[in-house]
Amino acid sequence: MQNFVFQNPTKLVFGKGMIAKLAELIPAGCRLMITFGGGSVKRNGVYEEVCAALAGRTWTEFWGIEPNPSIETLRKAIAQGKAEGVDFLLAVGGGSVIDGTKLISAGLRYEGDAWDLVRRGSWSDTVPLGTVLTLPATGSEMNSGAVISRLETREKYAFYSNFPRFSVLDPEKTFTLPEHQVACGLSDTFVHVMEQYMTTTGQSRVMDRWAEGLLQTVVEIAPKILGRERDYDLMADFMLTATMGLNGFVALGVTQDWATHMIGHELTALHGLTHGATLAIVFNGTLRVLRDQKRGKILQYGARVWGITEGTEEERIDRTIARTEEFFRSLGLSTRLSEEGIGEETIAEIERRFNASGVAHGEAKNVTGAVARRILEACR
Ligand code: NZQ
Ligand code: ZN
Repeated sequence: MQNFVFQNPTKLVFGKGMIAKLAELIPAGCRLMITFGGGSVKRNGVYEEVCAALAGRTWTEFWGIEPNPSIETLRKAIAQGKAEGVDFLLAVGGGSVIDGTKLISAGLRYEGDAWDLVRRGSWSDTVPLGTVLTLPATGSEMNSGAVISRLETREKYAFYSNFPRFSVLDPEKTFTLPEHQVACGLSDTFVHVMEQYMTTTGQSRVMDRWAEGLLQTVVEIAPKILGRERDYDLMADFMLTATMGLNGFVALGVTQDWATHMIGHELTALHGLTHGATLAIVFNGTLRVLRDQKRGKILQYGARVWGITEGTEEERIDRTIARTEEFFRSLGLSTRLSEEGIGEETIAEIERRFNASGVAHGEAKNVTGAVARRILEACR
């Protein structure tokens, strides 16, 4: 196990009716701005519950943070927040609203254009924020990451700033999610764990077992959730699994990959494909191309998550990769680029972008432009 320092300061406030706790969680007397997406919270009672919890307080609102939040929208929120002297933020929505609000919280303390912050990759001087999460997927509610897009140039980059002070997670508030968002959330959760697990064996028994526990939970609950979404206990397990999948807990002292995500972000930037949908396509390509480098871990994952223990090593690896692709298909997601009408032009552009920025992703730092091309060709 590698050395590590771990601290996750986010207070998780979990369960039915917990939005009422906002009154205690948000400091009295702060100049509060509440941020929202496109309006789903007005249709599922979340907005009313937030307003009821904060009755007697004043706040300002910013609406319209879109899926894959854009710098173009967030600049407007930052300008509004500066004009109103905002010193506390509450993000109410999915990962996009939370991610966008993380950039707002940094932008409020920065004099220049907030896109500079995104390109720097991190910024620590921030206004505090809390969240009310309505979509289990990204883990943004309990991590310091955000992913910000620029529509003008069709770019999308990760940015790191502050952990939410608190996040309220009420599984009942996920009942209104469209089926496709649920599927993408399950896919995202599964691949987050994989990015921290599917590397090499023998680094940490406890990280392996925690990661496999989360993967097994997703596999167990996915068909049930897609069959009857309004089950509270299922959605509670889904929500907690998504949070635990990307709050640092399964990454302690182990190497991480993230190449699938980096390629997936390019697919979203270039084609607008939903984040979880990009991962369902790219991940099987990553496994195919890096099967030798990851062979020990693929065998372990195949045995422990899918019970694949019979046959030669090559046969077990083949079956494990096929089983993984089947899992994404069972969520109703595409697993091939061609199904989304994506071809050579996009592959060439992603290769060009990776080469131009000189990146080398993955636990072995070998996913360059050329390897990204091979991965995309393997999931064509
Ligand atoms: O905008 P509204 O009207 O609220 O509707 C949203 C949106 O259209 C809707 N929705 C959310 N909760 C709902 C609901 N509809 C009905 N009922 C509810 N309870 O769902 C749509 C998608 O929301 P979005 O926030 O975009 O989804 P998600 O949470 O999957 O976030 C995706 C973004 O997070 C980034 C992705 O790249 C993408 O930009 N990620 C952030 C990460 C992080 N911060 O650590 C890590 C991830 O790997 C990911 O990259
Ligand atoms: Zn993700």
